[in-house]
Amino acid sequence: MKNKVKCRVALAMILIVTSVSLFGCGQVTPESDVETQVNEGIRIGLSMDSFLIERWQRDRDLFVSKAQELGAEVNVQNANGEVNKQISQIEYFIEKEMDVIVIVAIDGNMLSEVVGKAKKAGIKVIAYDRLILNADVDLYISFDNEKVGTLMGEYLREALGDEGKIICINGSPTDNNVTMVFGGFKEALGDSDIVIERTGYADNWLAEIGFDFTSDYLAEGNVPDGIMCGNDDIATQVVKALSENRLAGQVYVTGQDADLVACQRIVEGTQYMTVYKPIELLAQRTAEMAVTMAKDREPETESTINDGTYDVPFEKLDPVAVTEENMDEVIIGKYHQKSDVYLNVHE
Ligand code: BGC
Repeated sequence: MKNKVKCRVALAMILIVTSVSLFGCGQVTPESDVETQVNEGIRIGLSMDSFLIERWQRDRDLFVSKAQELGAEVNVQNANGEVNKQISQIEYFIEKEMDVIVIVAIDGNMLSEVVGKAKKAGIKVIAYDRLILNADVDLYISFDNEKVGTLMGEYLREALGDEGKIICINGSPTDNNVTMVFGGFKEALGDSDIVIERTGYADNWLAEIGFDFTSDYLAEGNVPDGIMCGNDDIATQVVKALSENRLAGQVYVTGQDADLVACQRIVEGTQYMTVYKPIELLAQRTAEMAVTMAKDREPETESTINDGTYDVPFEKLDPVAVTEENMDEVIIGKYHQKSDVYLNVHE
């Protein structure tokens, strides 16, 4: 018994001496600083598709600042929508022996080889927002993209009273999110009498394609009851085409991203709804998980998703539908300022 007590006292002495020598002259370093110091030396490569669409600059800024706050260093590369450029930028990250590579994939089908190389080199790979297929990434983190489509479908059903004709203009066919969003959308229409008269895709997310698609449809003398748009950028072009035909505000238009212009249109009455995805949560959670994974710890997620060959850990975040009714509650002060959203609305 006596010996045990002696042992405990000795252990306590050792701990006191260690902490004093670690933190110098008895000064206690705050826990977050200790955490930051522990993460120093962690290097993360962030490979972006492009910055053409409003949200991605936010994604980058939030990710970089969170990772830096945690002590990691981030190298950002922008592939400007070119797949081959993205592949060589990832190869550069492999050469530079990054600890983790975070990728916003331009083409979910084209990166399995380079991801394989990274993994072979012992680098952790995170698919950010868009799944990379047949690549066995270490983590996929995104929103519930199927639900993004489901929300669009459910809101259109409600607005149209379960019947009518619509057209759909999806995003890039090489973006796996598009498959998921459209899948969720069609499923939500289910047994309703809403007919999809025409479906198009905006290659490389080129929103102007949405303008031509809508203009051509209208030029044939058709007027749809609703238009499902793959995102708010496409919706911008679609509403432009509707305006040119004096139809803005008469057709239910959906989108996603809660871009400022889309939120403005919603309160002005020319777009029906958008889907808000809290980017801050996505970017910051990714930074935290990347730092954890850099220390060889497995990511902990509640879901998995099949990438065509493998089941990969999926950190799934929740999207929220936004209409005029809940704009103030969901968006104002959190994503956009009231004065910006209501800029053209005079009470
Ligand atoms: C994202 C959307 C975005 C689109 C175009 C998709 O993968 O889910 O939020 O608008 O890419 O960049």
